Amino acid sequence: MEGQVHVMFVLINVLGMLLGARGKDYVSAVGDPGMRRDGLRVGFEAWNFCNEVGQEAPEMGSPRAADCFDLSSSSLVHKVSEADNKLGVGKPFPGIKPGALKNPDLYAAEKEKYLGSLCQVEDKPQPWQFWMVMLKNGNYDTNSGLCPENGKKVPPFKPGRFPCFGDGCMNQPILFHQPTQLLEDGTTMTGSFNGTFELDAEVGGGLTSFYEVVWEKKLGVGSWVFKHKLKTSKKYPWLMLYLRADATKGFSGGYHYDTRGMLKTLPESPNFKVRLTLDIKQGGGPKSQFYLVDIGSCWKNDGRQCDGDVLSDVTRYCEMIINPQTAAWCGPTSQKNCPPYHITPKNIKIYRNDTAHFPYGAYHYYCAPGNAQHLEQPVDTCDPYSNPQAQEIVQLLPHPIWADYGYPTKQGDGWEGDGRTWELDVGGLSSRLYFYQDPGTTPARRIWRSIDMGTEIFVSDKDEVAEWSLSDFDVLLT
Ligand SMILES: *[C@@H]1O[C@H](CO)[C@@H](O)[C@H](O)[C@H]1NC(C)=O
Ligand SMILES: *[C@@H]1O[C@H](CO)[C@@H](O)[C@H](O)[C@H]1NC(C)=O
Repeated sequence: MEGQVHVMFVLINVLGMLLGARGKDYVSAVGDPGMRRDGLRVGFEAWNFCNEVGQEAPEMGSPRAADCFDLSSSSLVHKVSEADNKLGVGKPFPGIKPGALKNPDLYAAEKEKYLGSLCQVEDKPQPWQFWMVMLKNGNYDTNSGLCPENGKKVPPFKPGRFPCFGDGCMNQPILFHQPTQLLEDGTTMTGSFNGTFELDAEVGGGLTSFYEVVWEKKLGVGSWVFKHKLKTSKKYPWLMLYLRADATKGFSGGYHYDTRGMLKTLPESPNFKVRLTLDIKQGGGPKSQFYLVDIGSCWKNDGRQCDGDVLSDVTRYCEMIINPQTAAWCGPTSQKNCPPYHITPKNIKIYRNDTAHFPYGAYHYYCAPGNAQHLEQPVDTCDPYSNPQAQEIVQLLPHPIWADYGYPTKQGDGWEGDGRTWELDVGGLSSRLYFYQDPGTTPARRIWRSIDMGTEIFVSDKDEVAEWSLSDFDVLLT
């Protein structure tokens, strides 16, 4: 008896040490660390060129949906009905602000919060809602006057700069939803979202665009696997599909409404890492800017937090593009496309005019916020229309100088057929990137509101297909 008690005591101690050690090792910033929770929470959102809705697709409702369920003795209890998913302008739901009922943009933002309330999981330090599948159509009908310029409303202008086949090119997609089900084997759970932008075409027909996210998991084992597919077409040559961990409230990257998401703690540079398994089957052709990973946030040029004033709020993005066909636009003879300086892991600043030392090959492209007043010349400002407000983008390429952060160091790393589990020191790297700020102002805290994984097929010349799977996604606070 005494011996047994002793063994128990030792066991409990060992177990305690293991749990304690693990607890000390890391705290996750996401509600579902490593995507291992059987009761899945996944949302869907579709954006037009300036991250709004514009107009809903016929009979599809507002382009926000969710698939959330809990398990009860091996059966799935769904928390969002198909009627909820089909809610569209004019149809009220609990909590909707009266002013939003007839406005497709505001309605979608309110619907996201409503779906979030159905999916919400209570947790410390914050409740959380869902992973978010984000789909964006890059067509812009400049005759529509729909998108502001650096947050400022502007009149329509002549077409030519952006893809658009004519009236209606900014449409929202068809969305099919296969609610998650437990298959007959009794252990596999699977569900999906899919659809096309060609409203009159057969989904999956040869010449049309297509997107699909299928999720799958074995009960009680491992991670959910999210299998993505994205196909462009002549009419829709510029498409984006990401899986996002967004803030659970406030703004997320590129979204100027109150959002719902998975980041129950917002990670701040330099103190976080991102772990994920990425397996790319097809990269999506030469124009596919595959992001490992894309982080997004918002702060003003004077370093203050964003407050919803689209004239002074600025979206900030940092993206590592792993398509080996993506060349560096930044170079010794094109310094305009480089950030003003690079900072090494030892905190040495190298100016872009230092042609002997600046790592030109590590930067694809840098563009500055269009509303910045004190830019170092020469400079490119970012596209003023594709975001609800001004934006700043730092695009990186695999390069030996990123080795300290666990990022890809050479072209082809992590690309087609080179599936890997990555542990990226995103916090460390992003703490040393250049971001514009007005002279003499207190540096912004780099708190990230979205961490995204996926591809942007950037105006393809022909129909392209990208196909990849993502699992084990986690954000580790360090
Ligand atoms: C899209 O998903 C539905 C289930 O919701 C499925 O029946 C259909 O085959 C899928 N389409 C394609 C082209 O894979
Ligand atoms: C390089 O750029 C820095 C920062 O803009 C500037 O101070 C310096 O004078 C430049 N050096 C040369 C050789 O142009």
